[in-house]
Amino acid sequence: METSISSHPERGPWGDARWRGNASGYFYRDLFEALKPKTFVDPMVGSGTSVEVAREMGIRAWGLDLHSGFNILRQSILEVVGEPADLVFSHPPYHDMIVYSGQVWGDAPHPDDLSRAGSIEEFADKLHQALLNQRRATRPGGHYGVLIGDLRRKGRYYSFQAELIARLPADELVAVLVKVQHNVSSNNTPYRLRYPRIMHEYALLWRKENRSTYQVIGAMAFPQKRRLEGTWRALVRQAMVEHGGRAALADLYRALEEGAPDKVRNNPNWKAKIRQVLQSYGDFRPLSRGVWALAA
Ligand SMILES: C[S@@+](CC[C@H](N)C(=O)[O-])C[C@H]1O[C@@H](n2cnc3c(N)ncnc32)[C@H](O)[C@@H]1O
Repeated sequence: METSISSHPERGPWGDARWRGNASGYFYRDLFEALKPKTFVDPMVGSGTSVEVAREMGIRAWGLDLHSGFNILRQSILEVVGEPADLVFSHPPYHDMIVYSGQVWGDAPHPDDLSRAGSIEEFADKLHQALLNQRRATRPGGHYGVLIGDLRRKGRYYSFQAELIARLPADELVAVLVKVQHNVSSNNTPYRLRYPRIMHEYALLWRKENRSTYQVIGAMAFPQKRRLEGTWRALVRQAMVEHGGRAALADLYRALEEGAPDKVRNNPNWKAKIRQVLQSYGDFRPLSRGVWALAA
């Protein structure tokens, strides 16, 4: 793990090559060599690749999975393992790219199988909870993380790695790796390949600070609030630019009403919000009544 690119064409003897969505054992070997954990938990262990590598390297390792009765959405990893670990790293389903319960294992769909989440949004919420569960099971100063791929559906690109980075404490993120995918079977039909086929995943790593789950609410929620504020500011600035650098309030209202995304337009206080943005940042200066310009 010397660089931010991980590429292993071979998967090695660990785990099960026939398990759909299995990962290369060499990836885990690099991870353990870099972080040197003494204890490791994989709460979505699949065919067991990660824990086999860990044990071979003398690391105490726990492998849990829904297929053998552990449910990351309903059970605390910390309670099950019994002690906080140096590294808690998972490799979840990438939503329904591969469906696990009732297909890879078991006879029936399991309602808490992450690969059976009802929508992309529901999957993202559940994945967020899974990462909070992992974080709680990590000792302060230890690492938690995930191997996750992005997804293209009906022409849209969904980035779970970006979603997780946005949702978890920004001040704990320590590394983002691109992992090259080898030997992936694709059901993309060539004539539809307008955009590049996704041939990589991401490994995301956070280092846990000594704060409880509830103490990081601020670290998780504040950046979201800041982003929304920043979006208003960017929209008003851009509306001003489109009006040649100066605009009457009525023009800005109209521009935002016509052009803003639904969520912004549906804010019942959007006119007040525009006035507040004009007054808050020092980006704008009032000219005559109701007319504003971009500040120098
Ligand atoms: C991508 S696979 C892991 C593959 C593994 N890295 C390997 O090399 O074999 C994802 C796993 O997440 C498990 N899973 C899905 N929902 C879960 C849940 N709610 N709790 C625990 N495990 C879950 C699935 O059963 C599946 O085995």
